[in-house]
Order: sequence, then C-alpha cells, then structure tokens
Amino acid sequence: MHGAASFTGMSKYSHLFSPLRVGALRLKHRVVMAPLTRMRSTQPGDVPNELMATYYGQRASDCGLIITEATQISLIGKGYPAAPGIHSQDQVKGWKKVVEAVHAKGGFIFLQLWHVGRISHSSLHPKDGLPVAPSAIAPAGTTFSADFQRVPFETPRALETAELPGVVAQYRRAAENAKAAGFDGVEIHSANGYLLDQFLQDSTNKRSDGYGGSIENCARLLMEVADAVIAVWGKDRVGVRLAPYGKFNDMGDSDPEKLFAYVLKSLGEKGVAYAHVIEPRATNPGSGGPIVYEAPRTAEIFRSAFPGVLISVGGYTAEDAEATVAQGLADAVAFGRLFIANPDLPERLRLDADLNKPDRSTFYGGDEKGYTDYPELEVETLGK
Ligand SMILES: Cc1cc2nc3c(=O)[nH]c(=O)nc-3n(C[C@H](O)[C@H](O)[C@H](O)COP(=O)(O)O)c2cc1C
Repeated sequence: MHGAASFTGMSKYSHLFSPLRVGALRLKHRVVMAPLTRMRSTQPGDVPNELMATYYGQRASDCGLIITEATQISLIGKGYPAAPGIHSQDQVKGWKKVVEAVHAKGGFIFLQLWHVGRISHSSLHPKDGLPVAPSAIAPAGTTFSADFQRVPFETPRALETAELPGVVAQYRRAAENAKAAGFDGVEIHSANGYLLDQFLQDSTNKRSDGYGGSIENCARLLMEVADAVIAVWGKDRVGVRLAPYGKFNDMGDSDPEKLFAYVLKSLGEKGVAYAHVIEPRATNPGSGGPIVYEAPRTAEIFRSAFPGVLISVGGYTAEDAEATVAQGLADAVAFGRLFIANPDLPERLRLDADLNKPDRSTFYGGDEKGYTDYPELEVETLGK
C-alpha cells in the first residue's frame, strides 16, 4: 500500500479534495466508490470471502467512503448468481473481514441493501417460487439463472398487501446484521429497477391498495423501509440510492420529475445522511450501455428538492466531477467503472495521474483476474 496519501496536498481538483461531512462521517475527500456487483461470493451460501476483503481493502482510502456491491436482504431478494447476502450468520462473519480490511486503511464502508423484486429467477431460490413484485408484470429481456445461463424473465407474483410488513422486516433484519458486521452505515438501494424502484415507478406499479396509485402511495414502501432502517442505524448513517429517469431493467414513469422530487423531499424531511442520485446519461453501464450526454442532469433538476448531502454518479471524469462539486450541483461524486480498474482511484485523481482501463469481460463472476490484479501507481510516480 502507498499509504502516504493524506489528501491534504495540492490538487488541481481542489473541490473534490476538500473535506465533507456526510451524516456521522467526516470524509477527507469527495471521491466515493459506487456500489458494484461483481458476483464473486463463496458458494453455496453467498458468503463474502478473503478475495472480496482484498478487493475492498485495495480500494479504501483514509476517510474516504466505499459503498459495497448490492447485497440481498433475503434469498428471494437475490437476482444474480454469487451475489453476496446479509441474511445469514456466515455472511455477517464474511462481511466482518471486508469491513476490517477497509477500516485498517482508515476508510469508511456502507453496505448496500438490496431486494431485486422481479429481476430474479426462481432457480436462485427454488423453495420460494416465483420472484415477487408490486404487480405481475414481467420485465422485457433476459436474466441469469442460478447456473449463469441467460434465460427469459419469469412473470413475477404480485405481493399481497399483508406481505409488505414482512418485506420491511427483511430490511430491518438485514440492517441489524450489517451493524453486527461492523459497517459504518447502510445505503438503501431504491434504483435501477429493483424492488423499491418497481414500487416507485408507475410502469411497474399498478396496485390499487395503499402502495400504488398516487405518488405518496408508490413511495410508501420506500418510506417504511427508510424508517425501519433508520430505527436500527440512526438517520445520520443511512443513505438512499435513486435513479430518476432510469430505464435500466425495463423501467419508466409517467412523471419522473414530480415523483422523484417528492421522494427526495420526503427523504430530506427524514434527515438521511445522503441521497445518491444516478445520472440518466449512465443508467446502463453495467451492460455496456452508452453514456448519453444530452440526457437531463438530475443533479441540476433535483438539487433544490433535497437539502442534505447529494452524491451524484454516472459517467463522470475528474474534470466533470470537480466542476459539478464546484458549482454546488452535488456535494460528492461516486465513480463506478473507474474504481473497478483503479484500486487507488482517489490518489490517482488527486495527482491527475493516468488511469487503468476497466475490462468488461471480468466485471461479473470469476476470480482475481480483473478484480484484485489492477495495478496501483508506482511509488516513483507518487513521489513526483
Ligand atoms: C459492473 C457494474 C456493477 C454494478 N453494480 C451495481 C450495484 O450493485 N448497485 C448499484 O446501485 N449500482 C450498480 N452499478 C451502477 C454503478 O454504481 C454506477 O452507477 C454506474 O457504473 C455509473 O457510474 P460510472 O459511469 O462511474 O461507472 C453497477 C455498474 C457496473 C458497471
């Protein structure tokens, strides 16, 4: 490790490399590691392992924030083979090693809590039957089965109203497990077409009970989950991820601006540590989708709706991130693909050093190749 990075030295990106208070945390810089699914947990059991601890430890920086890959809160909430969970004691034990590796380098780490809803396949949870969703609407396209094959999506089963407290309870237990594993906080994944996003957006939510119809009703499950998780962690250690205008996983809403302004305002009233908003220009990079620079800028549209810390993500370069923070459009910027390829990304950005390029073929599943073998900067370069 090139541990000399103090983030106090001069950088041309002076706004990115200035301190920031995020809820209970005091960050030394504003380069956040975005949640990145890598599908490398130990099987069976979806257990985080030493390789994952090495990967996260490599990416930790002094008082910098990492958000883990999305982590299922229950088996039926699992959508991808070898994605890790946070619903068994073995998983808690595995995550402890990851947390320790990050803390050993002075970093902070939040766990991303995930229920995929309809973006699942019954082969991943054979005892639980069909995937569940707000309404029985299948997404277009294909997904992964338990043996990594591409298969068509199934039509999910619509959750009964009486089942929803049980879903909230799964989030609460997962939040408790994350606390037992020693995390610094949790991020509620309400983006990218997974369960909570399926409730929010009206192309997937056709319910006629108190959880569908009006914007308030569509946001109800997310708000109940937020309250449950805040009861475990306190509001200053809970963040929420949203994807306004997000189309990934066959999503859409008739009035995203009104919906997400309401959601952000409500989360602001709860005083969550941060809102993490995905730019629509980058809603599908995990599948190699293009960056669409003419898409609306959510940081601009929603800044006024959310009074707390706003983290923006999607297609950022260092220049763009610096300008976004300097203009006050976001308080911090998360990086996804650049963090895959650059374990020491904050230090490289601070020094304006060259960046390694990510290899898409090793994003999902596999071993250390394309995971823990991306090189750090040479010591000589760092000394210049
Ligand atoms: C391989 C890969 C895995 C991802 N996994 C997740 C995930 O687990 N949770 C999530 O909220 N977003 C996930 N995303 C989206 C990223 O967090 C991020 O929003 C996206 O990559 C855009 O940022 P970038 O342009 O800096 O890569 C993933 C993206 C990629 C490329």
